[in-house]
Amino acid sequence: MQPDPITRIAPSLLAADFARLGEEVRNVIAAGADWIHLDVMDNHYVPNLTMGPMICEALRPHTTAPIDVHLMVQPVDAIIPQFAKAGADIITFHPEASQHPDRTLGLIKEQGCKAGLVINPATSLSWMDHVMDKLDVVLLMSVNPGFGGQRFIPGTLAKLAAARRKIDAWVNAGGQSIALEIDGGVKVDNIAAIHAAGADTFVAGSAIFGQPDYKTVIDAMRRELAKGKSLTT
Ligand code: DX5
Ligand code: ZN
Repeated sequence: MQPDPITRIAPSLLAADFARLGEEVRNVIAAGADWIHLDVMDNHYVPNLTMGPMICEALRPHTTAPIDVHLMVQPVDAIIPQFAKAGADIITFHPEASQHPDRTLGLIKEQGCKAGLVINPATSLSWMDHVMDKLDVVLLMSVNPGFGGQRFIPGTLAKLAAARRKIDAWVNAGGQSIALEIDGGVKVDNIAAIHAAGADTFVAGSAIFGQPDYKTVIDAMRRELAKGKSLTT
């Protein structure tokens, strides 16, 4: 296993105060976050309704950090140019929600964004196999999508290790690098194990926004990640 030496913390705005989103973005980036994770839910693909491109556009001036848009929508394609125009840097989608995942990945890249697949707990990693050349990121769900504040599903660790092996084999054969991002139930007390299993990018909603001091949580996560690193090297 070769964990990416770079680790990134991507707070999910789903757990932020929706009445003060711009301020929340500035505060969490000032506290040391790397990416802003935007959970887009449409009340069709998942039974919840959250943010659209207008919110992405409104948040864009509040940070230069990458905005990581996680689309939980069906159909997928029509909304992609709107998020690209609204300032998204990374756009990921669930392959089952697309008629043609390869074409959707291509569309995201044509729009100048980094592209990735999101793999649900009950979805096979084999969706990755024939589109490896188009992936900038794989987002592995460690809860079923739709809501924040759920418990990390333990079986995700073995799946993460399997995704890590696929990515390492691809990179070792000369392929581009691919971030391996985990989403759901990530906390200070499990982030080291998740890192050791192969993730390099960590979405955390309630663990960060549920605490009064974001920097204290993010610093504690980084300390845990540093421990995890010494376990794996
Ligand atoms: C779930 C979302 C996650 C979620 C993470 O559908 O994709 O990003 O908000 O929230 P926590 O960290 O609270 O599990
Ligand atoms: Zn998400």
